[in-house]
Amino acid sequence: MIVLGIETSCDECSAAVVRDGREIMSNVIATQIELHKPYQGVVPELASRLHTEWIEQVVGAAVTKAGIGMEDLDAVAFTNRPGLLGSLLVGVNYAKTLAETLGIPFIGIDHIRGHLYASQIENPLEYPYLGVLVSGGHTVICKVLSYDEVDVLGTTIDDAIGEAFDKVAKFYDLGYPGGVVIDRLSKEGDPNAFMFPGPSMDRNEHPYDMSYSGLKTAVINQKDRFLVPGKEDSKANIAASFQRQAVGILMKRLRLALKDTGLKRVSAGGGVAANSLLRSELKELEKEGYQVTFPSLKLCTDNGAMIAGLAYNYLRDGYRDDVTVSASARVNAFKKF
Ligand code: KG4
Ligand code: ZN
Repeated sequence: MIVLGIETSCDECSAAVVRDGREIMSNVIATQIELHKPYQGVVPELASRLHTEWIEQVVGAAVTKAGIGMEDLDAVAFTNRPGLLGSLLVGVNYAKTLAETLGIPFIGIDHIRGHLYASQIENPLEYPYLGVLVSGGHTVICKVLSYDEVDVLGTTIDDAIGEAFDKVAKFYDLGYPGGVVIDRLSKEGDPNAFMFPGPSMDRNEHPYDMSYSGLKTAVINQKDRFLVPGKEDSKANIAASFQRQAVGILMKRLRLALKDTGLKRVSAGGGVAANSLLRSELKELEKEGYQVTFPSLKLCTDNGAMIAGLAYNYLRDGYRDDVTVSASARVNAFKKF
């Protein structure tokens, strides 16, 4: 089954062609990063306008690169939740129209589930496994029972991890997008220059929950309090110390969840799964006997391949949407507790 996957939930206009959920025949990602850069953040109106201008070309390029014609497509999948409403609508309407014109099935896919599924395309893990979803809008530790069944163990109670990276980078004028520049700058910094605090939630009744607003506030408003005597107050040191703690907060809960659930497999996904420190800390788990996967860098950030890959499973099992399917800005895919 050849599925076209369309992703327009935020600032990436992407289309991919995936065969049988595993073989990525093409994965075209047209990023709007440069056009949002002057504003140091995604401007929703600009994002949806650019998607409208680009989508036809991006889909055309994905089909051509796959070496097929539109008539070879068996189904169309598209992100329809959650995300920026105007941006989502562009993909949803384009996809539905295309599928109806071709007379093939179509299905709306949850973006967050797509991120969580991305590593399954390249390095499939047997279910169940511990899933770690880290992006600009979500921070979730969960038990993944199947492509569709996810039990949330913990989430952030305030800011998402990626949001913290973005806000710290914006405040210190480090560049855009925040996560990428902090990751790069951290390589030149001392991660122990500042001892930024983690959340004091250890006796919380939800032990796998996380919090990032305290760390963000400490880094932005109170950094001098946390500078280790004798260490230099530099941007690289702020970045490296922040990153160490941001990843540390996640890893602490992740390790606890692995211990408590007894799961031996773990998989990460989402934009922050591109972070080099997080990737190396996850790799460390392999030395302790865990099986660890995360997507290649191209499949960490928003992309159509993860949408087509996940959709294949639903389509194979008989799920389809009808023309009433629409976009939803705020649907939480995962039931909490
Ligand atoms: O998954 P994604 O592309 O979009 C959402 O669904 O949110 O994730 C974007 C987030 C942003 O917050 C960005 O700063 C972060 O992922 N990010 C990173 C890195 N690359 C992207 N954060 C830390 N280190 C990175 N290398
Ligand atoms: Zn995303």
